[in-house]
Amino acid sequence: MQFTNEFLQNLRQDYKSATLDEADVDNNPITQFKKWFDQAVDAQVFEPNAMTLATADKAGRPDARIVLLKGVDENGFRFFTNYLSAKGKELKRNPYAALVFFWSDLERQIRIEGIVEKLDKETSEEYFNTRPIASQIGAVASPQSQIIPNRTFLEEKFEELKTKSDGKSIAKPAHWGGYIVKPTRIEFWQGRRSRLHDRINFELIKGNWVKTRLAP
Ligand SMILES: Cc1cc2nc3c(=O)[nH]c(=O)nc-3n(C[C@H](O)[C@H](O)[C@H](O)COP(=O)(O)O)c2cc1C
Repeated sequence: MQFTNEFLQNLRQDYKSATLDEADVDNNPITQFKKWFDQAVDAQVFEPNAMTLATADKAGRPDARIVLLKGVDENGFRFFTNYLSAKGKELKRNPYAALVFFWSDLERQIRIEGIVEKLDKETSEEYFNTRPIASQIGAVASPQSQIIPNRTFLEEKFEELKTKSDGKSIAKPAHWGGYIVKPTRIEFWQGRRSRLHDRINFELIKGNWVKTRLAP
């Protein structure tokens, strides 16, 4: 196949596998998130915990990339990264983020907005210590988001650290750890026929989740 814009323009799906009624959506959006997540796992969605993380710099310019969700509870959604990365610097200046999950097999999207905080050192260490040694070394070896001369630079750093660690797990570096996105808005989107999709939206108002329906 050869790329054409005409092909792109004609690329469309009509969604018809499910519906989303207010009454079927739990009044607690975190409970609802877990319910949909379980269904994504059962449906064998590829990397169901992959989510787009959008941040913005001080000037409000947006930036987005995929990260992996590594924990959810009533307090929020957790992921791990390098605090000195582009996203780390942006979150330091502007601690607000949006998360988006798209589970195409289920014709579902979840959007989350919230305030971001660093996880405490102990929680980050606990998770770091569960990672395979190669991932631990990779986290130390990679100055995430910085310009590097070539791939060899990275591979040599990795090999050097691997030899030093001698097969033993290594300590979490100070610049690596977790964040929690404390949600203030969570929206559940279910694709429907003729673009008349269902959108059930939760907003945190004075500590209570308020559920409404949004036009698609
Ligand atoms: C499926 C997938 C999962 C990823 N998971 C993570 C992750 O959990 N943490 C992370 O720092 N980067 C993860 N990345 C890499 C990021 O998308 C990104 O390239 C990196 O974090 C640098 O982003 P930044 O320069 O905006 O900080 C993942 C990428 C993909 C495609």
